[in-house]
Amino acid sequence: MPKTAQIFQTPKGFHDILPQDQKYWERLRKVVRTLAAEYGFKRIDSPIAEDSGLFSKTLGLSSDIVEKQTFTFKTKGGDSLTLRPEGTAGVMRAYIEHGLSVMPQPLKLFYFGPMFRYEQPQSGRYRQFYQFGFEVIGESDPVIDAQLIKVFYNIYSELGIKGLTVQINSIGCKVCRPGYRSLLKDYYRNRVKKLCSDCRRRFKENPLRLLDCKDEKCQLFKSQAPHTVDHLCKECHDHFKSVLEFLDELELPYNLNPFLVRGLDYYTKTVFEIWPDSAQTQVAALGAGGRFDDFIEVLGGKSTPAMGAAGGVERTVNLMKVQEIKVPSAGIRPKIFLIQLGDRAKKKSLVLFEEFRKAGLAPAEAFSKQSIKAQLRIADKIGTQISLILGQKEVMDGNIILREMSSGVQEIIPLEKILNEVKKRLKK
Ligand code: HAM
Repeated sequence: MPKTAQIFQTPKGFHDILPQDQKYWERLRKVVRTLAAEYGFKRIDSPIAEDSGLFSKTLGLSSDIVEKQTFTFKTKGGDSLTLRPEGTAGVMRAYIEHGLSVMPQPLKLFYFGPMFRYEQPQSGRYRQFYQFGFEVIGESDPVIDAQLIKVFYNIYSELGIKGLTVQINSIGCKVCRPGYRSLLKDYYRNRVKKLCSDCRRRFKENPLRLLDCKDEKCQLFKSQAPHTVDHLCKECHDHFKSVLEFLDELELPYNLNPFLVRGLDYYTKTVFEIWPDSAQTQVAALGAGGRFDDFIEVLGGKSTPAMGAAGGVERTVNLMKVQEIKVPSAGIRPKIFLIQLGDRAKKKSLVLFEEFRKAGLAPAEAFSKQSIKAQLRIADKIGTQISLILGQKEVMDGNIILREMSSGVQEIIPLEKILNEVKKRLKK
């Protein structure tokens, strides 16, 4: 290695998804795709970078994400772009930009892709992480909220994840939230000095987030703070009551959590999070979301109610491993192994491989290996049912040897008949 060569590593908070982990990702992608189709969601992909204003002007200036967690850069042309910290803003931008409101509503969309947040990396918290997200646009009926929560619950159940808890709350709307916010401020006013430094800031900028504090110092004050659900307007109260009734009907277990307020500013009414059994893994939500009835209007669209949620892929995959969930290996499992000996056989094997592949029977092979022993050993390891052996003599005679791997029985077959012969045997 030259003296100057530098060993590079992934940047802090970024990670590789190695071949041995792909099967978990593939399984999750498949479950997400299948459930999306079953519940009538269409896929949407928005770009990973957006105009910085899309996030800074809409997600809430005081939200942690916008305040300190965005990857923002200037292009050579002088535009300010931000790597998306979440998917909802981009999807709603696309909804407005492409006039998707003319499509039958509610419009159900889903996505799966990387998000970027400049966080302090720790277990289950990365700077680049993947989310799958589901959004239902154009409908305010509480049945939508309940069914969306059910979709998420089903994704985790379908994966075989055990010990899930759904936390749910309603944080009201622009009618009732201002009253609740001032009530909360009144409650905290005399206690501000005793709060942690983050909460002293939250008190001024975003009092609802006081309920989200994990600092030991603030817990007692938090536990006695007024609850959002006790101060909802009639519409929000009735809406939340219906959401819970629908969840009861679905027999979906949930915990009412008066401290659940969420970190993004666009939420109205229902908010929820799905948590794993905390004893087992990182103490962080697997997936989360809620209703955001004012967001599309804030982005310059027509007033349009919406509800959605997103799940963290890495957190889900980590939990699948902790719970030792069995998943089929990614990729295809070849049933045939193609062995070649000598130059002419190698050339012929390359062509034979293509014939089998086109017929949907791509064989395993080790074309760069010379010895029959080495190739048979690999075939054994993969566990193929049949090995096809092509030597110099077989090429000259227009034949190939078919070996049944379990018995070791070998037969000579004319090359032009081998594909059909293999098909026949695999059917048995
Ligand atoms: P969020 O709660 O910020 O909501 O993120 C959703 C999920 O993404 C979290 O529950 C977690 O599993 C995962 N996640 C978030 N940050 C990280 C991280 N740094 N590392 C690993 N995983 C992470 C949203 O993003 C909203 N857009 C959800 C939504 C959709 N609301 C309405 N529609």
